[in-house]
Amino acid sequence: MQQVKKVVLAYSGGVDTSVCIPYLKNEYGIAEVVTFVADLGQGDDLELVRQKALNSGATISVIGNLIDKFVEQYAFPAIRANALYGEKYPLSTALARPLIAENLVNLARELNADAVAHGCTGKGNDQVRFDLAIHALGPDLQIITPAREWKMSREEAILYGEKFGIPAPVSKKSPYSIDVNLLGRSIEAGLLEDPMQEPNEDVFDMTSSIYDAPNAPKDIEIVFQSGLPIAIDNEFLSPVDIIQKANSLAGEHGFGRIDMIEDRVVGIKSREIYEAPGLLLLIKAHKELESITLNPDVLDFKNLVEKKWGQLVYQGFWFGPLKQALDGFIDSTQSSVNGKVKIRLHKGNAIVIGRSSENNSLYREDLATYSKDDIFNHKQAEGFIYMWGMSNKIWAELNSKMNN
Ligand code: ARG
Repeated sequence: MQQVKKVVLAYSGGVDTSVCIPYLKNEYGIAEVVTFVADLGQGDDLELVRQKALNSGATISVIGNLIDKFVEQYAFPAIRANALYGEKYPLSTALARPLIAENLVNLARELNADAVAHGCTGKGNDQVRFDLAIHALGPDLQIITPAREWKMSREEAILYGEKFGIPAPVSKKSPYSIDVNLLGRSIEAGLLEDPMQEPNEDVFDMTSSIYDAPNAPKDIEIVFQSGLPIAIDNEFLSPVDIIQKANSLAGEHGFGRIDMIEDRVVGIKSREIYEAPGLLLLIKAHKELESITLNPDVLDFKNLVEKKWGQLVYQGFWFGPLKQALDGFIDSTQSSVNGKVKIRLHKGNAIVIGRSSENNSLYREDLATYSKDDIFNHKQAEGFIYMWGMSNKIWAELNSKMNN
């Protein structure tokens, strides 16, 4: 391997990625460490984070405002795909990684760096997502992963940092490992490692508990155009604003918490707590609208595609050929997904109470009705059932002969 001269490091401002800066310079002999911090709506003061990187020895420290792209090109496709890994997790963390990776690669190109780096450990999914996305976009770039190689405990990492002027964290570190962006929060480790241990209320930040949620239910209406949410309660909103509004409505009513055992890419099961109120609400509403606007065979097949799409994104294949091909299928189904869905938010629930589509509804009241307006031809059912059940009837006749 060639000696790396300049590296672009994915930076969060936390202890681990801060320690990566002197570590890359001293242990890997890299002259220039450029840091990149992504604004994904996590709510940190990123100018402080940028300064911290410089104080820790970075030569250049860049903030990337990725929030609009994150929603439009990552969250919205996930809504169209009704994507839920393990039938529960809407991929709020997983979706961010390929976008960060893309920006690391672009910055490496711009600044003529020969490597990119991240601070992920060897046990999680995020390392897989970063590495696979970087391989796809910059196959010539080296990937350096200090935290996968150093054998330092957290305390040792803090001591190592202190030698290079990185202050030890002032507040006692949260006992949990938390990842946050506009779409949601992931909370792992600490007490939660016991899968039978209920999470303390203090792990949550975007959602109320069902005890604190308002007693009165709230009914809302979400409007979709071509499978994308465009308005809530008749207020037309930008993509970012619609996620924000959905987050606050669902969060206030305690909808959007997930507690699950998850199958990580690296083969271990882990206990995960998430909150992703807006994304879960929008997926639920979107799926409901599809039930009235898509043909049954398309719905049935799309279910399979959705499951695979979620797995691919979870497992790091955002930029892979199968994911792209499935995007093509999903996109082609969405032009008729227009209309609105009415939902009642109440004490941790989001209950669908109505759906309609002005121009794309496949629901026909004149066919569905049991009233005198019914136009369905009942007589035709006989011939249909004669053939529909033919093979089963033949089988049953043969069996009853053999048993007698
Ligand atoms: N298990 C989740 C996932 O794979 C959450 C990962 C959280 N990442 C973190 N660095 N804390 O998407």
